[in-house]
Amino acid sequence: MADERDVQQTDGQGAASAHEATPDNTEPGGVAPEHAAPGLSLPDGALDQSALDQLFTSARTPRRWSTRPVADDVLRQLYTLASLGPTSGNCSPARMVFLKGTDARERLRPALSAGNVNRVMGAPVIAIVGHDPLFFEQLPFLCPGEDLRSWFAADVGLSEETAFRNGTLQGAYVIMAARALGLDVLPISGFDQSMVEDAFLAETGWRANFLLCLGHGDLTGLPARAPRLDFAQACRVVD
Ligand SMILES: Cc1cc2nc3c(=O)[nH]c(=O)nc-3n(C[C@H](O)[C@H](O)[C@H](O)COP(=O)(O)O)c2cc1C
Repeated sequence: MADERDVQQTDGQGAASAHEATPDNTEPGGVAPEHAAPGLSLPDGALDQSALDQLFTSARTPRRWSTRPVADDVLRQLYTLASLGPTSGNCSPARMVFLKGTDARERLRPALSAGNVNRVMGAPVIAIVGHDPLFFEQLPFLCPGEDLRSWFAADVGLSEETAFRNGTLQGAYVIMAARALGLDVLPISGFDQSMVEDAFLAETGWRANFLLCLGHGDLTGLPARAPRLDFAQACRVVD
């Protein structure tokens, strides 16, 4: 965790200078052509291009925010959509705490790495995405007819691995659900996990995984999107 925070502090310093970039080398919402898989037509059943743009091609990670608020109803829609994403055995271990008010967000401030403070505190909503280590207590409800509860209850290593894997996946579903609902998202791993758990999760016993800042981003001055590995670099097809 400490290493991750160091990396993100460096990221923070880099982004501060990036905000001073000239318009010529900025790319507020777009995607470099090499990321867009040119020449490929969309398969039958695909979302239309504008939906794909909103979810992926044009979506960027903001560092600054407009003051436009996010209604609680939108947070409910966000959770409801994300909750439909698949998890193993439907175990659904993710738990979320949404920080909206000034007091709540100020309690988070000391836990943030220095480079993240401004970009996080400016967001209208900050979600703590975590998981319940005792997620298996819900399995009789979530996966009726199969005795998965006792399987996980008897194996701490398996239950921790399952909670972390599926809770992280669910956090990714939240990112995509947020974009689908027209929100921007800044995920954050540069924070002190123990401080966040002590301040916000102690009563529940939930574990903190990462933060998601939610709102309407100000993408002006954002540097061009960093490259991604292409298909040949990152993938193998085995026939
Ligand atoms: C799990 C995770 C943790 C991240 N932590 C931080 C962070 O601590 N600070 C930060 O400024 N950005 C953080 N980011 C944002 C990434 O740097 C950013 O999403 C990535 O570079 C892609 O940027 P793009 O959407 O503009 O292409 C994090 C992203 C993820 C998915």
